[in-house]
Amino acid sequence: VPLRRAPNLARIAALALAASAPGLLAIAALTIGAQIRVGWALLAGAAVYLATALLTAWLVGDLEQVRDGVGALAEEDAAAFPRRPDALLPPPREIWSAALKLARSWRERNAAAEARLAAAEAVIAAVPDPLILLDEKRRIVRLNAQANALAGPGRGDLAAALRNPAVLAAAGAVLRGEPARVVEFALSVPVERQYRARFARIERPSSEGAVAVLSLHDITELKRAEQMRADFIANASHELRTPLATLTGFIETLGGLAREDEKARERFLAIMQAQAERMTRLVDDLLSLSRIELREHLMPQDRVALGPLLRHLAEVMELRAGARDMRLTLHIAADLPEVTGDRDELAQVFQNLFDNAIKYGRAGSEIVVEAATIEKGGEPHVAVAVRDQGEGIPREHLPRLTERFYRVDAARSRAIGGTGLGLAIVKHILNRHRGVLEISSEIGKGSVFTVCLRRYDAAGPEL
Ligand SMILES: Nc1ncnc2c1ncn2[C@@H]1O[C@H](COP(=O)(O)OP(=O)(O)OP(=O)(O)O)[C@@H](O)[C@H]1O
Ligand SMILES: [Mg+2]
Repeated sequence: VPLRRAPNLARIAALALAASAPGLLAIAALTIGAQIRVGWALLAGAAVYLATALLTAWLVGDLEQVRDGVGALAEEDAAAFPRRPDALLPPPREIWSAALKLARSWRERNAAAEARLAAAEAVIAAVPDPLILLDEKRRIVRLNAQANALAGPGRGDLAAALRNPAVLAAAGAVLRGEPARVVEFALSVPVERQYRARFARIERPSSEGAVAVLSLHDITELKRAEQMRADFIANASHELRTPLATLTGFIETLGGLAREDEKARERFLAIMQAQAERMTRLVDDLLSLSRIELREHLMPQDRVALGPLLRHLAEVMELRAGARDMRLTLHIAADLPEVTGDRDELAQVFQNLFDNAIKYGRAGSEIVVEAATIEKGGEPHVAVAVRDQGEGIPREHLPRLTERFYRVDAARSRAIGGTGLGLAIVKHILNRHRGVLEISSEIGKGSVFTVCLRRYDAAGPEL
């Protein structure tokens, strides 16, 4: 409750005198004109003055209460009104109720403005990209959490947070009044990432003095995809160019020098056929890869029994293994559950793994294929391991084996007819199946390629 101030008597007296002046003057005039007697005049004058003083004191008291009440309203405390408002004289009461109305509408507007501000702040915080607000002097006045994580909590000059010359030049240009600017730059801490930075001026400066906004967009993936596409085209054309060059060479030879040479013609035609087959295989693999990629987000839903599939593939490959004096031995668990998948694609997976084991295994050795149930992430999976006794793969190559055209020894792989796409196809098929490929290898001993697939769930299809 605000302190009640003592009534200001001198002010009340002065006001009362001013208010009663006309009455007092009239009485004085009547007295001078001898219309009333001096005794009555004094009495009437005192009565007029007293009544006016009382009314003034009452009115001033009420007004002072209203003044204190409005003061309390400013502190948002309407209940702190010193007295019951309905006990006021009508004019102060009307002023008070008008003040209450004003306060209410002001408070509502304030609440609406605050809600709008909070919504805007929430949007800034929810923007997944880092945002930084700058003032005229290029100082950071505000940043969202994402920018905080990137530039640190510093509030000083932008140069302390992002030390890139191109970024600072763009900031300077926009702050000088040039139109929005976009620059790309790389940050190497904590990990190498590429960003696209956009500077733009803000229409109206904020209360903190922000005049420009810097938004950063992480384009690392985009750049990587661009690079991959470029590499892929370069690799694919290179792979096609080699057999094409061979073909062209032999065509020229057959048309010229070797035209009459029966024996050479036979030999060249055989080579040409092999090269043409190689190109066909390459194109088939590329098409197969792009088909699988197109449907990668759709998990196949058929039930596939791996036992019969593996046995069938082993039979198909028997001849090729025999050519290198190798054997394929299968150990398939008797109660091996079915998996969720696409039979043809899974056949492609194991065909590639068997093919690699035959190509890169030691001649005369055994390839062991084991299929069993394992527990993975608390769920039963089916694991198929293909173990060869080859020379093994150096550790640094393991993470890259599933990249398109990646080979440990490109010349050797190409010489034995490989396109370098086999494991890339395997990986994409397994992605589609929400499965995994694990590779382990020991130099001099051999490699194990393990495929993990989801068990067919009798309860229904998985997504
Ligand atoms: N079992 C293995 N032992 C040793 N190295 C392997 C084995 N499997 C794959 N590699 C290496 O991984 C590379 C990539 O294998 P991938 O199957 O993708 O291609 P490729 O076998 O060369 O060609 P493709 O499978 O198209 O005929 C191979 O070139 C080889 O260097
Ligand atoms: Mg292969």
